[in-house]
Amino acid sequence: MRVGLLGTGRIGLFHASTLAHHPAVTELLLADADPARAQDAAARLTGGAARTGAAEVTALATVEAVLAARPDAVVVATATDAHADLIVRTSRAGLPTYCEKPIAADLAGTIRALREVDRNGTALQMGFQRRFDAGYTAARAAYRSGELGFVHTLRTVTADPAPPPAGYLPTSGGLYRDCLVHDFDAVRWVTGREILQVYATGSNRGEPFFSDAGDVDTAAALLTLDDGTLVSCTGTRYNGAGYDVRMEVSGSLGQITAGLDGRTPLTSAEPAGPAAPEQPWPDFLSRFHDAYLAELDVFLDVARGRRPSPCTGHDALEALLAAEACELSRALGSPVAVDSVRSAAALRALPAQEAAR
Ligand SMILES: NC(=O)c1ccc[n+]([C@@H]2O[C@H](COP(=O)([O-])OP(=O)(O)OC[C@H]3O[C@@H](n4cnc5c(N)ncnc54)[C@H](O)[C@@H]3O)[C@@H](O)[C@H]2O)c1
Repeated sequence: MRVGLLGTGRIGLFHASTLAHHPAVTELLLADADPARAQDAAARLTGGAARTGAAEVTALATVEAVLAARPDAVVVATATDAHADLIVRTSRAGLPTYCEKPIAADLAGTIRALREVDRNGTALQMGFQRRFDAGYTAARAAYRSGELGFVHTLRTVTADPAPPPAGYLPTSGGLYRDCLVHDFDAVRWVTGREILQVYATGSNRGEPFFSDAGDVDTAAALLTLDDGTLVSCTGTRYNGAGYDVRMEVSGSLGQITAGLDGRTPLTSAEPAGPAAPEQPWPDFLSRFHDAYLAELDVFLDVARGRRPSPCTGHDALEALLAAEACELSRALGSPVAVDSVRSAAALRALPAQEAAR
């Protein structure tokens, strides 16, 4: 297969390496808004004796050049603000597309891009990699097998060891849209239920650049699912113990935890408790290494028409709606129904004439 990859930053470089080493990929075409970055990525993947990839890797000067080369599939790993436009362009070109979350930082942009994808009937897979993590997959299977009895509570944690640079924040969408959105997607995926209502709050006890950007460095949200299940979600940019991503699923007959292993950055206060990890997970690229590989492996099957997208644009929209509801709840200091955000967003996404009717 010939695959185009747009955006060769942190996650883009990782995905480029995955694709370059995938047996189904014969040619990988890279582009970045900063052409030097794409060239550097191509050099790293093909450089001299270090060449290990199966694919020919070429850096092209522009995104347009990659799309004009008519690849079989496109992976979008650019900064968030370019996603929606690129999804529209690849969809109009009929190209199966994998895109890092989110589709857009706002709901109107998300809905407009989704309409284009729906109109053209093109395949779109969104990058919620927890759906490919072994622990989350096992938690989902346990939930669905009935072995947990009736599940009444989920508890999710998404904790980064250290904050991103200040410059990342203004375009990140904030802690709910950037980080907890993964938990919202995982909650929907594990349970198969929808998020009805959220009640969210946040705090900023770290660097003031969070509040300067209208963001928080630590957040908590209480979700109510459509079957009454309660979910508590917490997230922070300041977890000095390490990178901690977990989901506890508790039912009347048992409970199971995704993300609890010998590297989970937890220290027991009990004298006979488990030892603290010697090598706690340091970051998302190591913690979700296998999941990132698996999601692109599946995407190449999606692109070849062998299976439907395992994480559609509409899944991404649902997770973003929950994040938007959290931002609103934090501002209002009261619970927010996700449907109220959905209705307002649908209206805003309509072209002016249509909305006026
Ligand atoms: N699923 C995950 O776990 C995960 C993890 C990290 C990042 N992400 C997402 O991946 C995306 C990229 O994040 P990152 O951390 O790699 O960022 P980054 O800043 O390291 O890289 C982004 C790259 O995109 C390039 N770029 C920006 N606009 C472009 C355009 N219009 N055309 C081509 N290239 C363009 C930039 O020059 C840069 O090289 C973000 O949307 C982020 O939300 C997802």
